[in-house]
Amino acid sequence: MARVTPASSPADQAAALPAAVDALVRGELLAFPTETVYGLGARADDAAAVARIFAAKGRPSDHPLIVHVADAAGAEAFAAELPPSARRLMAAFWPGPLTVIVPRREGIGAEAAGGQDSVGLRCPSHPLALALLRAAAAAGVPGVAAPSANRFGRVSPTRAAHVADEFTALPGLIVLDGGDCAVGIESAIIDCTREPAVLLRPGALSAAHIEAVLQAPLGQRDGHSPRASGTLAAHYAPSATVRLMDTDTLRAALQSSAAATRPGDPVAVYCRSVLPAGAPGMLHRVMPSDPDAVAHELFGVLRDLDAARVGQIWVEQPPADPVWDGVRDRLQRAAAAAPDA
Ligand code: TXA
Ligand code: MG
Repeated sequence: MARVTPASSPADQAAALPAAVDALVRGELLAFPTETVYGLGARADDAAAVARIFAAKGRPSDHPLIVHVADAAGAEAFAAELPPSARRLMAAFWPGPLTVIVPRREGIGAEAAGGQDSVGLRCPSHPLALALLRAAAAAGVPGVAAPSANRFGRVSPTRAAHVADEFTALPGLIVLDGGDCAVGIESAIIDCTREPAVLLRPGALSAAHIEAVLQAPLGQRDGHSPRASGTLAAHYAPSATVRLMDTDTLRAALQSSAAATRPGDPVAVYCRSVLPAGAPGMLHRVMPSDPDAVAHELFGVLRDLDAARVGQIWVEQPPADPVWDGVRDRLQRAAAAAPDA
């Protein structure tokens, strides 16, 4: 079993730090909270430590990891250069839910970067993550490579208990408990090796906000974008099959399920609109009207519904407005995944 540290007060959380830093220094894995999702970390400058992350997640070793640093100065250790777009974004959004891809400094972090000549860098704003990264830096760990702390292709964890559920096979893994992740979906990733910079993965920060900081429009994604598992068509998948439907299609599906004479798969519904109840026994979760509130709860809702053993989750398509981009992206990928893929 993983060891989830006590978290009832900031003092409790801080008391868990020395053992966590020690684990990182020794090249062991450590799960820790960020404001987006929990990460499964290891020191980014140690090839063997990084290899443990890929093995634990079952992630292909050419899929690059994000390196977490304590501050902008910490980014310099991994970056060959910080392009002007990266500097602007870091100044505006760090610490916070934004990752910049920049040219990688030779001789450090090659395994974390999955062999690419670029590296993804992020300074998270969760106080416990920042305290960890600062203490680790003081102990000689320049950065912590950390993907989301879930097995490859599965739903990202937003609570310590989710992480413990994912990695039952890692006895002794320390899971630093920092409570519920405030943002709830992963960071926005911006490729700053290109001009104009390109948004590779939408997050909670809107493209409009990012463009305002860059004082320039973002470029389009194309075939040159590096491989990013968070950008695969099918990802973030619960065990249940997710069906994303527009409001009218969902209403019709609920009406015909209510009229059906034989029960089908157990179904849960996650919708914003007031809709018919559907077949008896269907689970209903109300989707909040605010995109940030949906981002905050989304992965927890998918996990809860999996735990309730529903076979299908029928989700009402979010509005087309760009403020929903991050949530829509995660829902589309969850819906694209085959069951148990
Ligand atoms: O919010 C987050 O970003 C969370 C927390 C833990 O910080 N981390 C996270 O990591 O989502 P992960 O590995 O699950 O997703 C990172 C994404 C992947 O799609 C990866 O391929 C991409 O970032 N990435 C990392 N470095 C890259 C690089 N050099 N070039 C292109 N994509 C990169
Ligand atoms: Mg992930």
